[in-house]
Amino acid sequence: MSTVPGRTDLPGSARAAGKRPLDGQTGPRAGLSDIPPQPTASLAEPAESLRADPVRIAADLEAIARIGGGEGGVTRPGYSPLERQAHELVGGWLTDLGLTVWGDAAGNTIAELPAPASKPALGTGSHLDSVPGGGRFDGVVGVVGAVEVVRMLRDAGVTLGRPLRVVCFAAEEGARFGQACLGSRAVAGIGASDIDEIRDEGGVTRAQAMREVGLDPTDLDLARWDPRDWAAFLELHVEQGTVLESQGVRVGVVDLVSGSTRLELELHGRASHSGGTPMTGRSDALAAAAEIVTAAEHVANDPRHRGTRATIGRLQVAPGNITTIPGHVVCTLDVRDVDSDRQRLTVLEMLRRGAEACARRHVSMSVRLIGDTSPAVLPIWVRRVVTRAARAVGVEYRVVTSGASHDAQSVNTIVPAGIIFVPSRAGLSHVAEEWTDAADIAMGTDVLARSLIELDGELAVIEGIR
Ligand code: GLV
Ligand code: MN
Ligand code: MN
Repeated sequence: MSTVPGRTDLPGSARAAGKRPLDGQTGPRAGLSDIPPQPTASLAEPAESLRADPVRIAADLEAIARIGGGEGGVTRPGYSPLERQAHELVGGWLTDLGLTVWGDAAGNTIAELPAPASKPALGTGSHLDSVPGGGRFDGVVGVVGAVEVVRMLRDAGVTLGRPLRVVCFAAEEGARFGQACLGSRAVAGIGASDIDEIRDEGGVTRAQAMREVGLDPTDLDLARWDPRDWAAFLELHVEQGTVLESQGVRVGVVDLVSGSTRLELELHGRASHSGGTPMTGRSDALAAAAEIVTAAEHVANDPRHRGTRATIGRLQVAPGNITTIPGHVVCTLDVRDVDSDRQRLTVLEMLRRGAEACARRHVSMSVRLIGDTSPAVLPIWVRRVVTRAARAVGVEYRVVTSGASHDAQSVNTIVPAGIIFVPSRAGLSHVAEEWTDAADIAMGTDVLARSLIELDGELAVIEGIR
């Protein structure tokens, strides 16, 4: 049932029962990313009992994994009925915990734990969609961790001085539409213009996909957050890399998040008989694509590109017959980097080499930009709060850089954000083998809970100074 355009009450939500006046602004924005480091507040020690429960966490992960999960991993595409089902499930848990739960125009689910004072909120959460045949931890860990924080605060009798909002973002994975972080970009006011352009492999546009799950894409702008309503945002996530595991460290505090430029390349050659056509004078689109694949790898491996990653993850070959020269290829190129200029220059260099290979092979190439996101430098004051929290929890941490995209990256364009990593077994992610021990997730959740309490205290000091 939708009570406000673009806002949908999830079943059983407190908002549906008329409890929630969220539309008004809640005061001046605190936690601006340009605030200089403030003296550390002398914060009340949270109760010793503020510890995440790995058994509860494992049970929540299992319940969510059943939605779209199977032998070949988890398949829960953005804006699919399965993703919606996961949002309903978590929304129900949060309602049962006494939070006010609603869905926004972008398909994000937001739940608020109210506070005695009306102040800009703290947020935490992640996403519930997955890549095809993906793992059960990517995104879900940040949602389950956020739900667990609410239980921990309740069990320990800790009340924050500002609202805490749990956010389940929609369609974070670029797997379906190419462009990642659709829900979190919407709250940041980015990317509403391409809803009729970006398409999945079946040709379904983002706007159509949204309509199919009961969302009105013309309302997308209503999902925008007012930065004055938010103080800071934290995301717990699996590392999707090997740094933590290889160093035997259980918590990562992210300093930079890579950007990505994603392209679709279409190569047109000439299909013909594989036996009758001599090797000279062919226009083999796949042979040209093969040069592009190796050129991309070569450029990214150049020592001057330390930190660049380039991947051709999808390749469609037509006519796809053993005895016909491939006349047509469509492939994707995903270039990630923590350096914004290098990211774009790398793409240009790969395209230059691709164009050269195509010209030599009498193949034409057209290029379509699917998505382009800059790297994010996360605010150092948020990171300092998280590292202080890790020390308070008594866990060793490492400052790490994220190769993957994250919702906190979009949020950070309007609200200061931080990311906490927990180890990924063998660094594997986006595959069924993805694994993180519940004990490590619980440790990360302890740091998340403590960080939120520390942020609440630090923000109170800043508000007192103003
Ligand atoms: C999100 O998982 C990404 O592809 O970085
Ligand atoms: Mn993720
Ligand atoms: Mn992912």
